[in-house]
Amino acid sequence: MNVLVVGGGGREHALVETLAQSPQAQKVFWSPGNPAAPCGPKIEKCAVAADDLGGLATLAESRAVDLTVVGPEAPLVAGLADVFRAKGLRVFGPGRDGARLEGSKVFSKRFFLKHGIPTGRAEGFSDFDQAFAFAKRHPKPLVVKADGLAAGKGVILCRDHAEAGRALNQILREKAFGDAGREVLIEERLTGPEVSVMAITDGKDFRLLASAQDHKRVFDGDEGPNTGGMGAYSPAAIFTAALEQRVRAEIFERTLAGLQAERIPFCGVLYAGLMLTPDGPKILEYNCRFGDPETQVVLPRLKSDLAEVLLAACEGRLAETALEWTGEAAACVVLAAGGYPGVFRKGDPISGLTAAAAKPGARVFHAGTALHEGQVVTNGGRVLGITALGPTLRGAVDRAYAAADAIAFDGKHCRRDIAARAL
Ligand code: AMP
Ligand code: GLY
Repeated sequence: MNVLVVGGGGREHALVETLAQSPQAQKVFWSPGNPAAPCGPKIEKCAVAADDLGGLATLAESRAVDLTVVGPEAPLVAGLADVFRAKGLRVFGPGRDGARLEGSKVFSKRFFLKHGIPTGRAEGFSDFDQAFAFAKRHPKPLVVKADGLAAGKGVILCRDHAEAGRALNQILREKAFGDAGREVLIEERLTGPEVSVMAITDGKDFRLLASAQDHKRVFDGDEGPNTGGMGAYSPAAIFTAALEQRVRAEIFERTLAGLQAERIPFCGVLYAGLMLTPDGPKILEYNCRFGDPETQVVLPRLKSDLAEVLLAACEGRLAETALEWTGEAAACVVLAAGGYPGVFRKGDPISGLTAAAAKPGARVFHAGTALHEGQVVTNGGRVLGITALGPTLRGAVDRAYAAADAIAFDGKHCRRDIAARAL
């Protein structure tokens, strides 16, 4: 079969490489891909942008694509999967309705509450005065969230109502997140460790992916501002068998029952961001796609044929599939540009890529890179994700750092404590 992967980051680089390993995959098209990322012979990069929904559908038709896999959330929220399905094209990713679980925090919170999925208490507002009055009536730590997609920046943790007032002002009055902040959610602040759990679903059945944990803050010891993710590891020991049972029953089964009750089809990834509170696991948010950089540690551990499983999900046959994992652990160290997630430079030459890829167990996934006159240069905040497999988590981490340390560019920054919490 021919496969198309939409997106151009590290997660998509891991997806195309994994899908290309499938004996069933004849060709894997990658659009827009990343010209700097080295790819095997089965992979062909195309130039259609991830937000050009019609252009992508035309690409899929003209290249006889049998299965399209969508990496980022924005095209899903914009309705890419609806455009494809209307043309009879198979696509792994929810339509606009299902993608609201990620695209609208007010919608998803109402969904959780309606279907008995454990979550923090919250209310939605579009009027500043009403929102601020509510915050004042709840003199506890609160979380203010912009309703729509805000590139991971729309969540503001507030110690008291004064901080909540500033956050509400920023979002509702100053429009810091534009239209994504037309509504806000004010949520009680929960405490506990966090874990991400991803499931592949066809809307009826689901298959959990291997557990993984990412590292959202930019500096060691979880200090500094939030980022898109500075690294990840898998498996996550915190996700015990007992916890898995609860999460299956209380989060995923209820979510699928809720989606069916509301007649929302959902073929794609349900990625639950959970907090393990003293009262049990509670959901903070759903994403409607693979995590980045979680995918870069989960997919290298997958023994099953990903193309076959995703195709089965598209055809409502997920029940026929099983996911098998290697016993090896995986760690991914993200190499970021100095200054990220604030202002950072682009265009710095990167050396050591070949040496890093040759280290035992290592894979180099390109995220924010570009080609300039034949030289690979930095082109984004998160530049590269260096994954390594190892017989133990310790081994995987050591190998990932050995490979990460072989790479050099001006301003290179990475956390030195990836997976430290599990070791
Ligand atoms: P979200 O985009 O909803 O996952 O939020 C991003 C991050 O904000 C999460 O990973 C948590 O660290 C934090 N967060 C979100 N909601 C809450 C909450 N209700 N209580 C405490 N922290 C939260
Ligand atoms: N790693 C967090 C995310 O993909 O949203």
